[in-house]
Amino acid sequence: MRRIFSGIQPTGVPQLGNYLGAIRNWVGLQRDNECIFCLVDMHAITVWQDPKALREQTLAQTAVLLASGIDVQRHILFNQSAVTAHARLAWIFNCVARLGWLNRMTQFKDKAGKDRENHSAGLYVYPDLMAADILTYKATAVPVGDDQRQHLELTNDIAQKFNHDYGLEFFPTVEALIPPQGARVMSLRDGTKKMSKSDPSAQSRIEMTDDADTIALKIRRAKTDPEPLPSEEAGLESRPEARNLVTIYATMQGCSIQDVLNRHGGEGFGPFKKALTDVLVQHIAPIADETTRLLKEPGFLQDTLRDGARRARTIAEPIVSEAESLVGF
Ligand code: ADP
Ligand code: NA
Repeated sequence: MRRIFSGIQPTGVPQLGNYLGAIRNWVGLQRDNECIFCLVDMHAITVWQDPKALREQTLAQTAVLLASGIDVQRHILFNQSAVTAHARLAWIFNCVARLGWLNRMTQFKDKAGKDRENHSAGLYVYPDLMAADILTYKATAVPVGDDQRQHLELTNDIAQKFNHDYGLEFFPTVEALIPPQGARVMSLRDGTKKMSKSDPSAQSRIEMTDDADTIALKIRRAKTDPEPLPSEEAGLESRPEARNLVTIYATMQGCSIQDVLNRHGGEGFGPFKKALTDVLVQHIAPIADETTRLLKEPGFLQDTLRDGARRARTIAEPIVSEAESLVGF
């Protein structure tokens, strides 16, 4: 059985991209794998987070994950800061990774923009902490969206250099599990930007707690172009907004982009957006309802995370202690 690790930042409500790129695949992987799922609050504070909001969002995120089908009886769900092994291994990895490797990370460049000097050092070494998250458990597979591909390559570079420097095959090679479709859901307002919970405009994303009216409104307002839908996939080239909406529809329904175009090719966006809204509401409404119910039980959510952290520690402690002793601590 493979050991899977994956994380999500408890910053705001999970959006459709998180669901299609990550969470839904986490649920599927539970059947045949040992899964460790983490709310990465230490990653979250690489950019400013209001302390009270961070605490609330950690619970809200837990509720959405449980409502989406994460099974905490058989698998582990916890928040990162509760297991100190992550921070200890991350420090070692800060000393293993080379500055040149971090300089190549496109996510830092995207997030920091031109104003590099004013970002936290944490944002810069974020990929070292992510490598530590995974290797704290010697996990071998990581379900993520396409935006994390480069960070996983860095994880393998770090593992290899650690193994080389300290003279043995201690850390395994990690495989990225990137879904063939839905791995890069784009913003509803700009088809060239990825959908993200950190985008300042809530109109740019569908949140997993949106009700039917909100979903309908956001889809109605989603940016499109004046052409009807093509009947062949090639007709979506250089139409990023149209491609995005068709991809969301297909991924939600578990069919291919061509299947959707066979049904809706030639339609204008008016009717297609109605059909897309129906599909989204049908999938999201039950998750939103269950999330609302769970949010009324903060004690239960806290207990769930506490129990998850306790179980995570029993795996993490021996691995990270051994890594520390290899380093000479
Ligand atoms: P966000 O950018 O919304 O804050 P996170 O950094 O918390 O998301 O990422 C959580 C998971 O969701 C990761 O596996 C990431 O690859 C995936 N993910 C984030 N945004 C998208 C997207 N637009 N499309 C597909 N997957 C995504
Ligand atoms: Na991200």
